[in-house]
Amino acid sequence: LKGFPHFMLKEIYDQPETVRNACRGRMIVSEGVSVLGGLQSKMEEIKNLRKLIIVSCGTSYHAGLIGRYIFENLTDLNIEVELASEFRYRRLRLDETTAVLAISQSGETIDTLAAIREARRKGALTIGLVNVVGSTIARETDCGVYCHAGPEIGVASTKIFVSQLVILNLMALLIGRYQSVSLNEGVAVIKALQNLPDQISDILAQASQLEELAKTYQKYPNCLFIGRQMHTAVALEGALKLKEISYIHAEGYAAGEMKHGPISLIDENFPTIALLSNDASYDKMINNIQEIRARSGPVFAITYTGDAQAEKVADDIFRVPETHELLQPILSVIPLQLFAYYCARFRGTEIDKPRNLAKSVTVE
Ligand code: M6R
Repeated sequence: LKGFPHFMLKEIYDQPETVRNACRGRMIVSEGVSVLGGLQSKMEEIKNLRKLIIVSCGTSYHAGLIGRYIFENLTDLNIEVELASEFRYRRLRLDETTAVLAISQSGETIDTLAAIREARRKGALTIGLVNVVGSTIARETDCGVYCHAGPEIGVASTKIFVSQLVILNLMALLIGRYQSVSLNEGVAVIKALQNLPDQISDILAQASQLEELAKTYQKYPNCLFIGRQMHTAVALEGALKLKEISYIHAEGYAAGEMKHGPISLIDENFPTIALLSNDASYDKMINNIQEIRARSGPVFAITYTGDAQAEKVADDIFRVPETHELLQPILSVIPLQLFAYYCARFRGTEIDKPRNLAKSVTVE
């Protein structure tokens, strides 16, 4: 545990190294491209793909939702993201121009495995994005990429989520550079990936600020997380982390849905964590915060370093450094992991082994 009281905290602090391990030997900066040995044997089929369906569960599903934006931005593929537990019951039309990408830390999740088996039966190429070397999903997919993140012991997935997001960018870049992505666009992603470990360390150095905020927010029985675009999935992940280890009831929502239901929950006892980023959704997120504050809802905003408005409208803020738009979720999720961890610590729950949960779900 290297002096950490819990594996979860150790794994959160491992993340600069996790990113380095995910990238090591996999990027050619001058060509703005990635090299993924595990996909090499199927590269001809991969170049001819028209559609990619991402299947996964839990935190790995949230990585898939962010993966949709990454692939849509860097490739010309049509992308679907499906919970593995739902995918296998659909009436699917799969052929050799469709690949199914399974994302799994353990490589043993029963629903994800069943989805891959169903996809293979129907003739689709199957690709794995897995952490555990030699696991069943790694063995049963046609090709794949490992996270090389070492073991993740805490039941709450942290460093693997970050690793998955890094590798989704590398995979999309590999395909995208055969399609319309330019050299300069490729180089921009790679350079941003190279800066990530130090940016993550900067966030970790401010952990005490999140501990202070958690002391206040853990007193509320409920918590809403909102974001837009890629940050909708970060909101889902922040809510999953919090509910899973602290047992605080938490929901993640696309901020654009607030007026379609959830805003009726808001009062002075129902806090919201709002995720802002420096993109086209920024002004709409500020509006969302104002609407929540107008109904006396406490708001804690996670925003970027240069933002001047959030501190005027939210009760509390935490800033993360800015990076390439496609990598921003990697930085925004880290304060949410720490926030969930400290809330759970104040509540005295079993952080590494939450009640009723197992690290990998091998039985339906
Ligand atoms: O091993 P996998 O990535 O396939 O596991 C998927 C989920 O069971 C997992 O991410 C789960 O949601 C975590 N406990 C979340 O922290």
